[in-house]
Amino acid sequence: MKVLVVGGAGYIGSHMVKQLRNAGHEPVVLDDLSNGHADAVLGAKLIVGNCGAPDVLEPLFRSQKIDCVMHFAGLIQVEESVREPAKYYNNNVCAMMTLLDAMLRHGVKELVFSSTAAVYGQAGSTPLDESSPISPINPYGRSKWFMEQVLQDYESAYGLRTISLRYFNAAGADPDGELGERHEPETHLIPLILRVASGRQDAIQVFGRDYPTPDGTCIRDYIHISDLCNAHLAALESLRSGAKGSAYNLGNGKGFSVAQIIEAAKSVTGRPIQVIERDRRAGDPAILVANADRARAELGWSPRFPDIEDIISHAWNWERTGL
Ligand code: UFG
Repeated sequence: MKVLVVGGAGYIGSHMVKQLRNAGHEPVVLDDLSNGHADAVLGAKLIVGNCGAPDVLEPLFRSQKIDCVMHFAGLIQVEESVREPAKYYNNNVCAMMTLLDAMLRHGVKELVFSSTAAVYGQAGSTPLDESSPISPINPYGRSKWFMEQVLQDYESAYGLRTISLRYFNAAGADPDGELGERHEPETHLIPLILRVASGRQDAIQVFGRDYPTPDGTCIRDYIHISDLCNAHLAALESLRSGAKGSAYNLGNGKGFSVAQIIEAAKSVTGRPIQVIERDRRAGDPAILVANADRARAELGWSPRFPDIEDIISHAWNWERTGL
């Protein structure tokens, strides 16, 4: 299939492009390179532009026979979304609406959408399944939930078929060592800890020690980037086979606190990791852990790298050799 990978030069998108090619599909990348890197597409076709620009989309859809779209061009920082909601609604909602308009105009009716665990907000009970209450507590989560609802309406009205994948915490790097996380500035926990281990940064800040968790730090469910991308391949197959649009959690069902991740990183790297205690970061829920049984049952997905040691070790390999 010819798959338009919007945001395909970014962290998740670039791993997706590689896995699409390995699976025999033809990716076409659209990325404005605001966060992505041209070399991360590893030679795949790259069109530089923003997915909210009709003058970019029109010639693209006219010249390429796109079968399906994957959308990775979202802004993803929870704390930034609290400070700058306009940026999030403009990019994650308005730009994506323009993309949907172009898809419909050109008869492209299949989409795999990058949604997020942040749609659940402050979970009452965990693990969260897809029927858990939706109640995002930050503009980032609200922007993604808004788009999920738009997609449901577009399915009923226009026959757009969509699978929304609710990622928990994407982490790790390409097991072959060709790709990894290259956000600038970096805000995610695991790559920042590894910068401390490699000496690129002095200490890791721990945002909040007073959460209602056993050690007082936030708990997250980390999922290997390669497993996340495999779920997209499964979603593509599912859409192709005529399955109805749906939403799926993607996580391993195991929660690790910030303090536990620091300990695991010490053990994987064999390096000391200095910690600085800070106040809570705005917008952070205490616990997010997935029940991903639906993805396993309906998409036939199962993670290859569920162990946190593998996730950290692949990211560590990238930190040492890839950057
Ligand atoms: N954290 C620190 N210090 C840091 C960075 C992070 O203590 O320097 C903490 C955060 O406060 C949070 C945890 O580590 O408790 C994980 O933070 P990340 O920034 O790595 O990830 P988030 O959980 O904030 O968000 C990520 C994605 C979102 C997605 C979410 C789903 O960025 O897009 O996972 O769980 F919605």
